[in-house]
Amino acid sequence: MHQSTRPYRIGQRFDLEVYESEEEMSLRAAEIVSGYVRANPELLICLPTGSTPTRTYELLAQDRDLDPEVYERLRVLKLDEWAGLSFNEEGSCEAYLRRHVLGPLGIREARYFGFDGKAPDLYEESRRVAGLLDRIGPIDLCLLGIGVNGHLGLNEPAEVLSETAHVIELSETSRGHAMIATAKERPRLGLTLGVGDILRSRKIILLISGAHKRNVLHQLLQTGITTALPASLLRLHPSVTALCDRSAFGPGDS
Ligand code: PGA
Repeated sequence: MHQSTRPYRIGQRFDLEVYESEEEMSLRAAEIVSGYVRANPELLICLPTGSTPTRTYELLAQDRDLDPEVYERLRVLKLDEWAGLSFNEEGSCEAYLRRHVLGPLGIREARYFGFDGKAPDLYEESRRVAGLLDRIGPIDLCLLGIGVNGHLGLNEPAEVLSETAHVIELSETSRGHAMIATAKERPRLGLTLGVGDILRSRKIILLISGAHKRNVLHQLLQTGITTALPASLLRLHPSVTALCDRSAFGPGDS
């Protein structure tokens, strides 16, 4: 059991646990996910990409090595994708998930769902995923990271957010994300599940790691609910567990 140095409650049901290191945070995240998969082997889990969840995925792969049957029926849904990047292109969310999740956890094609960033008609592709989620959803467990600008998936800060899967114009902040730093052509658009899809998830785990996330974490703790900070909508959800490390939270106990 990994001890959070200090549990917080934000609003009625949003719990924040602070861990001394990214490793401790990831151990806790993997422990929660593996508990959910054991409780419901056909779980539909929505997974993000990026640097934050990578260690959690490695730990889940270790768990699967010990107990492969547990993951045999797990269903995985990709949270978002950069438009214009093919499945094989380094930097695509697909390539990331294949490397860190689908291969190591042995998720077969029939149990994996997600956007094709290279679809000829992106709007049609987002409707396809929306229809798919209508059939297989809601998401049982949604793992999330947070952008430095407060985005969730690729739901960017805006006056109006979209409820279901959609095509989105990326913010300059997101266009600067490390994942696509070496892309042949930096994407201008993204495909993402909507905030409604995320909020309809039965359980949400939010991971926040690193000093570069300190500012956005403090905005999340201090501001109200606003579409200018999409992550703040999580405060409306009945069951969110946020896990952060000390570098994101800041020094001391305050
Ligand atoms: P990161 O990305 O995990 O690489 O920080 C998260 C995000 O931008 O949503």
